[in-house]
Amino acid sequence: MGVQHALMLPYPAQGHIIPMMELSRRMEEHGFIVTFVNTDFTQKRVLDASMKAHTESHPNKGTGCIRLVSIPDGLEPDADRNKLGALCEAMLSSMPNALETLIKDINGLEGDSVTCIVADVSMGWALDVAKKLGIPRAAFWPAAAGCLTVFLKLQELIQKGVITKEGELLDTHMIQFSPKMPLMNPRHFAWLCVGDTAENKVIYRSADVCIKGLEGVEWLICNSFYEIESTTYDTFPNIRPIGPLFIGNQPTQAKPTSFWTEDNTCLEWLDQQPSNSVIYISFGSFTIFDEHQFLELTLALENLGRPFLWVARPDLVDKSGAGYPEGFLGRVAAYGKVVGWCPQKKVLAHPSIACFVTHCGWNSTLEGLSNGVPFICWPYFADQFLNQTYIVDIWKVGVGLKANEDGVFSKEEIKSKVEDLMGDEGMRERVLKLKEEAISSVTEGSSMENLHGFMEAMKRKS
Ligand code: UDX
Repeated sequence: MGVQHALMLPYPAQGHIIPMMELSRRMEEHGFIVTFVNTDFTQKRVLDASMKAHTESHPNKGTGCIRLVSIPDGLEPDADRNKLGALCEAMLSSMPNALETLIKDINGLEGDSVTCIVADVSMGWALDVAKKLGIPRAAFWPAAAGCLTVFLKLQELIQKGVITKEGELLDTHMIQFSPKMPLMNPRHFAWLCVGDTAENKVIYRSADVCIKGLEGVEWLICNSFYEIESTTYDTFPNIRPIGPLFIGNQPTQAKPTSFWTEDNTCLEWLDQQPSNSVIYISFGSFTIFDEHQFLELTLALENLGRPFLWVARPDLVDKSGAGYPEGFLGRVAAYGKVVGWCPQKKVLAHPSIACFVTHCGWNSTLEGLSNGVPFICWPYFADQFLNQTYIVDIWKVGVGLKANEDGVFSKEEIKSKVEDLMGDEGMRERVLKLKEEAISSVTEGSSMENLHGFMEAMKRKS
């Protein structure tokens, strides 16, 4: 067997790049050379953030076998990438050719050639490129398997009159693909959660193309583990869980993946806090607050008077937002710390962390679970609502917040849920049990078997 060279293609968003890099590290440990393909835009972002942290002078320096490269996403450099419809459309029309050229360039180098391609499901068009070039391929889903099932069932949803052929919602009743799977709200289908109807249709069209790219793909792997979504895996045996990928993943050579510079001072601050005392608050990379909700959260944190670490990204509040109440940062400085971005996995693993106020992004959900931290759920869109259902109703390791008549989580509600959760020993016991199951799944259980099976298959096929 010659040199194994995997080309990895994440969707260009923070919550996709991080787990794809974790998978890349696993493949590197297993003997693959890895080419990790960002878009030019995200590549610049992660490099700028890493340069500021002085953690890495050049992404491809050193002895590791992961190489970062980038190709254009089809938009102008200064275009707004938060307009997901435009981004998806541009990627679909320009990236297949750019990817093909990149692969041919690599294959033209002496002694090198791409032996397999692993594409994010949301970049499923790349699997057609792989097929055309005769390269073994696999698809990676970085979120819950339960969420993926919606995309695998698009045709059935159309036939049953839940959505139109253009993805518009016709029937708002909760859906369930098998009796034991969680109920899902069609209003939270991912393509319906961003922009207006026209943008929804563009995103749906792109999702449809990506899902069609999965046809004939033998390895559809997912960053999750059997024990937490067993009924979904029993119903959809073609989805194979291989996570949580970050457990036990100790890269010798870190590669930049963060869009913001990590503020590591919070780790020293956590060292000074009592064990099991700190409320950790973070809303991932995408969530935007309105001014009113932001204010309620600041008031709740002041009223709680307990140690807290809050990741308030520089772009967390929408443009109308006025920012912190006057004097807030000074008043809470004795017991709270606010940072723009942190090393979240290290934070969640710190013994001082008592609970996690989260938007329920899938990576955050897995990271909290794998560190035995109970949750206060604050979902915003798309799969985050399903993740909340798992956390609150199925795994019973967290609580949800109830909005008031203005649709806001009030300071009283936030305070009371945090206090309830901090005193709930049953909750902590359950989440610690899931932590053990997560570790066992990747070290000796089905996630480990699937991951090894996948990597061996990629080697055999090449
Ligand atoms: C998005 C979607 O919101 C999410 O629902 C989907 O499952 C994946 O894509 P995002 O909103 O960014 O992701 O949330 P999440 O999935 O939780 O990913 C955020 C990642 O950023 C996590 O890996 C987390 O550890 C990391 N992070 C977050 C940091 O490293 N530092 C921080 O300060 C905050």
